[in-house]
This record gives sequence, C-alpha cells and structure tokens, in this order.
Amino acid sequence: MQGKKNLAAGFLFLAGFMLYGFVLIYLRDLAPGKEAWIADYADGKHLEARMAHAHGGLFALINVVVGYALVRLPIGASSARCISWLALAGMLLPVGILATAALGLPPLLVPVGGLCMIAAMVWLGLASASLREPGEPASADARPPVDANERKAT
Ligand code: HEM
Repeated sequence: MQGKKNLAAGFLFLAGFMLYGFVLIYLRDLAPGKEAWIADYADGKHLEARMAHAHGGLFALINVVVGYALVRLPIGASSARCISWLALAGMLLPVGILATAALGLPPLLVPVGGLCMIAAMVWLGLASASLREPGEPASADARPPVDANERKAT
C-alpha cells in the first residue's frame, strides 16, 4: 500500500521535531549561556535550530497528508511510489538544516530535500487533477454531446 511509509515516517518525524522543541526551550530558558543563545535569535546556530524545528514539523505534517492522499486516492502505482519517495526525501531539508546546526556539515541536503518536496507536490497536484469519477470520459473533449433540451435549460 503506497502512502503507509509516509504516514509512519511523518508521525514519527513530527514527534521527533516536537521533542526537539523542548531542546529549544532548554537552550532558551535553562542552559548555561542562555543569554548568548537568546542574543543570537536571528542569526547563526539559533536561527538554524529554529528553522530545522519549524520545517521539520511542517514537512512531517506534509508527509502525513501525502500518505493519507496516497492511501485514499486511486493514483497509478508507479506515480504513487515516486510521489511517496520524493515526499520522504523532502525530510532531508530539515534533517540537513539540523545537521548543519548541530554538526557543522555543509548544507548540501537542504536544497536536495527542498527540490524533492517541490517535485512531490507538483506530481501529486497533477495526479490529483487527472483523477476521474468512475464512468467519467477520458478528457473534457470526449464528453458526450449535450442534449438539445438540456442546452435550452442552461
Ligand atoms: C511539543 C511540540 C513543540 C514544542 C515544545 C515547540 C517549541 C518551540 C520553541 C521553544 C520555539 C522557539 C525556538 C527558538 O528559541 O527560536 C518554537 C518555534 C517554532 N515552532 Fe515549535 N514547538 C513544538 C511544535 C511545533 C510544530 C508541530 C510546528 C510546526 C508544524 C512548530 C513550528 C514552529 C515555528 C514555525 C517556530 C518559529 C516561530 C517564530 O520564529 O516566530 N512547532 N517552537
């Protein structure tokens, strides 16, 4: 079933980035050197840490939504598989910000994750747009001609 791994990873990442919110509370309110951390609010590690938290929560929620959509919508198997992996790879964005803030790694994962998530959104949008009701004709052009009486009534 496509979407299940997005639901599972989405909820687990959400929990992880929520817990990380408590680390941010500790750093701001309790940690030794908290004054320097607060003074650095809009810069450096503090900014990166907040960005990782905010985007981690958001991207995790997006994975939950993508997972639910893939479980419920009749999207073709190969499209669903690609959308699912692209949305999961999107988590590289917040993980990359976190790795930059915590380990000083180069922010390479950030654009990779961002582009994967954008691709997942575009693909899911297009796949949703091409969904049809059962029995609906293949394209708008192929619609059966409107009955003369029906046309008068409209
Ligand atoms: C138990 C759960 C959470 C805790 C304890 C928590 C804690 C925090 C803390 C302490 C900050 C301030 C960080 C700083 O010092 O710069 C913060 C900022 C933020 N959090 Fe959370 N958070 C939680 C869940 C979430 C979730 C689920 C989301 C998004 C889906 C989220 C989005 C944000 C955003 C966007 C900011 C930045 C706000 C700003 O810059 O004005 N948080 N959070």
